[in-house]
Amino acid sequence: MSEPSLTAVIMAAGKSTRMKSRLPKPLHPLCGKPLLAYILDACSAGGASRLIVVVGHEAERVKEAFRDRCEFVLQEEQMGTGHAVMVTHPLLEGYEGDLLVLPGDTPLIDGDTLRRLAEHHRATGAVATLLSAVLPHDAGMYGRVLRDETGKVLGVVEAKDATPEQLAVREINTSIYCFNAPALFDALKQIRPDNARGEYYLTDVIGLLTREGRKVEAVIADDWQVTLGVNTRVELADVASRLRWRIMERLMLSGVTIVDPANTYIDADVQIGQDTTVYPNTYLLGQTVIGEECHIGPMARIEDSQIGNRVTVLASQVVESRLDDEVRVGPFANLRPGTVVGKGSKIGDFVEVKNAVIEENVSMAHLTYVGDAHVGANTNIGAGTITCNYDGKRKHRTVIGKGCFIGSHATLIAPVEIGDGAYVAAASPITSNVPPDSLAIARCRQEVKEGWAKRRREQSSSEG
Ligand code: UD1
Ligand code: MG
Repeated sequence: MSEPSLTAVIMAAGKSTRMKSRLPKPLHPLCGKPLLAYILDACSAGGASRLIVVVGHEAERVKEAFRDRCEFVLQEEQMGTGHAVMVTHPLLEGYEGDLLVLPGDTPLIDGDTLRRLAEHHRATGAVATLLSAVLPHDAGMYGRVLRDETGKVLGVVEAKDATPEQLAVREINTSIYCFNAPALFDALKQIRPDNARGEYYLTDVIGLLTREGRKVEAVIADDWQVTLGVNTRVELADVASRLRWRIMERLMLSGVTIVDPANTYIDADVQIGQDTTVYPNTYLLGQTVIGEECHIGPMARIEDSQIGNRVTVLASQVVESRLDDEVRVGPFANLRPGTVVGKGSKIGDFVEVKNAVIEENVSMAHLTYVGDAHVGANTNIGAGTITCNYDGKRKHRTVIGKGCFIGSHATLIAPVEIGDGAYVAAASPITSNVPPDSLAIARCRQEVKEGWAKRRREQSSSEG
């Protein structure tokens, strides 16, 4: 049997004044993705087939960031959460199914919780089911869920409008609901902004429906943390640390060793293979994929990169790069976008590589810059070798063949090609192509003046 239709409405039009930010709240980054992305992901995982986001404050920026992921409705003036849902009515004309309604600022919500909410809603035949949570601490500014002595939901009262007795209630409204769409839009027509904030409260719909004798249910979240809202940057940091723990918990349970989770930062989409060890002060960011049995860190920063199996990255940065199996990087290497390193190659200390393909078993062990280049397999690049790729106006390529030996402190002035099996003598500035299997020396022949230093010392002491 196919699942009944479920549409999600996400309210993300508010000004988020308390964030004190030029960046709209839905776009604030959290473990590598914008806040709103987590809510859209959870809605899809929870079974919603249509996603509608209500935008208002900085609407164009939010639309631009999510344009392929959902539909948008503009709430020009933000007159409250009830009003935010009202503006979606034209898009949902004639829709008779269920609506998930969520705020745009609860990024820890997950598909399982939403699925449980929708299933309870359908199983009980309710017209409205709210997700509540029982917090282990004071409920602060959250709306409180009011029930009668039998436990039946009566309504939600906002903290600003609550009596001291109501404020003592620990069960809070998460602002996440499942509604029968026609019943919701009927009720929204009747709510009034007669409250402390002068807003149309979506929460008023709950009381209104219960007074009309319609069935209203509440599902208490298994884990109160999934309902945490982000209203300030303090809450953003709190949510981020909980999310990081969740990400690392999942990885550790799948067979990754994380030596010190409190000092490790792994973004939500990062994948890591079995028996890889992640050492402290390491940042694994964006769309990074790491293979099995690797040693990553301490002090590695890897962003949007693919790392093979049995790779070591020690105290180095790797960005938009690909490292094949058994590559060793660091300490103190900087692999910039467009770097590809073949199996078994070594990129050692103070080596910078950019937009370059390094084939397998290459050794580039110290103090080198290789940019806009191709280095063939089994080549050895001596310490201090530099590809001079920039002439002040344009970038040029350096091509080094297979099995070459580039002596220390060689200066390869691009465009230039070193043929397979060629040698470049140490300290040589190379300005023209070197044929395969040849030796290029480009430096002055050494002159030795025997006794020169001794004579100089004797001369200066007789003068003194
Ligand atoms: C709301 C609930 C409260 C609940 C809390 C949970 C109401 C009246 N109160 O309060 O019961 O405990 O969430 O976090 O619903 N928004 C719009 N348009 C508007 C107003 C708000 O799109 O006109 C959006 C905001 O961008 C935000 C969400 O709705 O994403 C919730 O608004 P917010 O002002 O944060 O409500 P709370 O005061 O947190
Ligand atoms: Mg809020």
